[in-house]
Amino acid sequence: MRFHIQTWGCQMNDHDGEKLSGLLSAEGFEAVDSVEEAELVLLNTCSIREKAVHKVYSELGRLREEKLRRPLVVGVTGCLAQQEQAALFKRAPHIDLVLGTMALRQLPRLVAEVQAGRARVMDTTEYPDNHLFPPAVTRRRDTAKALVTITEGCNHACTYCIVPTTRGTERHRPYGDVLAEVRGLVARGYREVELLGQNVNSYAGGCTFADLLERVSEVEGLEWLRFTTSHPMNFTRELARVLVTNPKVVPFLHLPLQSGSDRVLKRMLREYTVAEYLERLGYLGEARTRMTLSTDFIVGFPGETDEDFADTLRVLEDVAFDGSFSFIYSPRPGTPALRLRDDLPMGVKSERLRQLQLRQAELTQASNTRFLGRVIPVRIETHGPTEHGWWLARSAEWKTIHLSVGPGRDLPFGELVPARITLASPHFLGAEPA
Ligand code: SAH
Ligand code: SF4
Ligand code: F3S
Repeated sequence: MRFHIQTWGCQMNDHDGEKLSGLLSAEGFEAVDSVEEAELVLLNTCSIREKAVHKVYSELGRLREEKLRRPLVVGVTGCLAQQEQAALFKRAPHIDLVLGTMALRQLPRLVAEVQAGRARVMDTTEYPDNHLFPPAVTRRRDTAKALVTITEGCNHACTYCIVPTTRGTERHRPYGDVLAEVRGLVARGYREVELLGQNVNSYAGGCTFADLLERVSEVEGLEWLRFTTSHPMNFTRELARVLVTNPKVVPFLHLPLQSGSDRVLKRMLREYTVAEYLERLGYLGEARTRMTLSTDFIVGFPGETDEDFADTLRVLEDVAFDGSFSFIYSPRPGTPALRLRDDLPMGVKSERLRQLQLRQAELTQASNTRFLGRVIPVRIETHGPTEHGWWLARSAEWKTIHLSVGPGRDLPFGELVPARITLASPHFLGAEPA
């Protein structure tokens, strides 16, 4: 059977797609690059905002058409599957299987049941050992960086967020398992690893997260170690020290702030004030100027006033984030924020988002300009030039690099090469091999 997996959402979901792909490959199924070639299509979904859910339903509509023309097995996995469960069959009766985020290893069984003629099979059980997925099974996409799960689930309860519903409470992989996986990856040629969790720095798999970073960084042959995502309240002095002193841990930190107003943060149940967030950034000391800092913002949270939004812009300015992801608040089913009065017109919310993103683009441009003229190591992320002629690479700070290389010259995929930065835009750095 030929299968195709379409994945939306965060790195965690991306990596779950790699696990699902491995499970099917182990059954002798063949991965193909398009829906048209596939006999089994899995939509590995995200439900973080309404827009993400719309994309899934629109793709499901397309698959219904496809299924009228030929035999096709349609499965839904990921966060929307966990959230909607059997309701998905009602909404889209042509779905054959639904697999929850904590039941990954049940996929082959469900597919076999569909093949045996059973209609509408589902498993959304919260298996307590889902996080102990065997790494040898995972079938990784062709990327320079390998993703490694350390924690699944989230014990925070931000009032806007669907993730605690779709991913459950925290489960941590024992650090020995993590180390063994990273050693195996390095032996296969990977030089960069990203540790994943909804909240990595609450890690409790036998040591602290700071300790885990130190231990993983000792794996011989590993060059760069990164992680995502961190919650400010679990960002400790010990972690800051490792970030600043460990040469393999990249000088990059993504620490979501969400809002610059204490009033709003309180209603989001983020568990910190702006002052406490800034205090934690302060743990980085003067080394912060050598690091790249990014964050997430939600604008138009219920009850956000002009003043609250002005506070957000002020913190953006004061911290001068190198980058940020910002979104208009999206009401999610079953979340506590639904009970808050939300009478701000969408036009106002969009205008706030526009302002914030405009200012961020300027700050990012300034951040990128600091790299001009420098020679830095970058990791080659493509096997050849893109259609625009340049090669794609990344710096340790996670800057996107467009590398212009003379014709006929080949660069080593996945390896570091020195690059001289010649151009800074808000979205990428232009460079040439040094
Ligand atoms: N665990 C991460 C967040 C993962 S979701 C953390 O706490 O930092 C990624 C981002 O999506 C969040 O940081 C938030 O900015 C945004 N987000 C989450 N729920 C949202 C919602 N209901 N509406 C708009 N943005 C949301
Ligand atoms: Fe969602 Fe908050 Fe958990 Fe992040 S920390 S996943 S925003 S509940
Ligand atoms: Fe989306 Fe689920 Fe990740 S909601 S952002 S795929 S944890």
